[in-house]
Amino acid sequence: MELLCIQSQEHPELPKAELKAVMECENIDANLSVVTEGLVILKDISKNNCDNYYEILTKRLGYTHEVHEVITTSSVDTLTDDILCVDWSEYIDETFAVRVKRFHSDIDTVGTERKVGSLILEKCNDIKVNLKKPKSLVRIVAFGDKLYVAIEKIKLNKKHFENSKPHKRPFFYPGSMSPKLARCMVNLSRVNAGDLVLDPFCGTGGILIEAGLIGCKVVGSDIYWKMKNGTAINLEHFGITDYRTFNLDVRELKMYEKVNAVVTDPPYGISTTTGDIDGDDVFKEFFKAIYDNMKDDAYLCMASPHYVDLKPMADEVGFDIVEQYGIKMHRSLTRIISVICKKTE
Ligand SMILES: C[S@@+](CC[C@H](N)C(=O)[O-])C[C@H]1O[C@@H](n2cnc3c(N)ncnc32)[C@H](O)[C@@H]1O
Repeated sequence: MELLCIQSQEHPELPKAELKAVMECENIDANLSVVTEGLVILKDISKNNCDNYYEILTKRLGYTHEVHEVITTSSVDTLTDDILCVDWSEYIDETFAVRVKRFHSDIDTVGTERKVGSLILEKCNDIKVNLKKPKSLVRIVAFGDKLYVAIEKIKLNKKHFENSKPHKRPFFYPGSMSPKLARCMVNLSRVNAGDLVLDPFCGTGGILIEAGLIGCKVVGSDIYWKMKNGTAINLEHFGITDYRTFNLDVRELKMYEKVNAVVTDPPYGISTTTGDIDGDDVFKEFFKAIYDNMKDDAYLCMASPHYVDLKPMADEVGFDIVEQYGIKMHRSLTRIISVICKKTE
């Protein structure tokens, strides 16, 4: 079986990297095939696993907008026959809508939606079209002349990423990253539900909210009491109860238990304070402080500005940088997202 993922095109690499990381840590047995930027197919999934994988992907991913189960692959020329071959009663529950999305294709979207809708109605009794609130959504994705005919089985909760934007949380302080990027970073750290995730620069808790929502136990610490408290307020607001927060300088960090992952956005630039640590030394101090608090197979996913070279600092402490992605913020600042682990030898 195949699952089709429609991904965000706001970054050329992160959506795919996030998907790969989730496949790795959730043991998703499938072959990932990139059709074009924004369109990925997971192939060769066994029937027994498909529903479970579908649920995991919709629950976890930040940069994937839609997931669908592929019913059949077709083409502009054979669409009518291919639609008529499907037993739609297996997929449609009372009401449905057909929606077409194009990638490098000039297919007539509205015309195709109408045509497929009437073909399905012709084949199936007891179902109706409902464009506003259909119970079943038939998704046709056109790539060139190729058409993927698919069904949406579980909706991604897109509202969450809108409702959890920093200014909509009960405790707000400038400088928190977007919830989608925070979710992506949590996923890049390859954690699973039940794992312990630490953010030692937790600020308003943006990263920990995302880790908590996928079922991780979370620990946040911050040099400022106000931020530590703010994190707790925000976590409670999102129904996250399995958390602990501490008020300390990262250099004093001594965890009660080694963590499965560290996901964090350390302070940098003139607008953020680093306590009494000199400028970019905060990264060096952070690496030193965090190493012994991480399990041997733990990942660290962090943000940093492009002008700080993490490599020598990571080397010195015994870390390897395994993946890096640049996000252009403005003309003079690119934010680097790094995935780091302990050296193995
Ligand atoms: C960029 S903000 C983190 C934003 C956070 N991800 C959020 O969602 O709000 C960096 C945080 O590091 C904290 N901080 C600065 N210096 C610190 C230090 N030496 N030890 C621990 N926390 C520190 C600041 O108080 C600030 O809240």
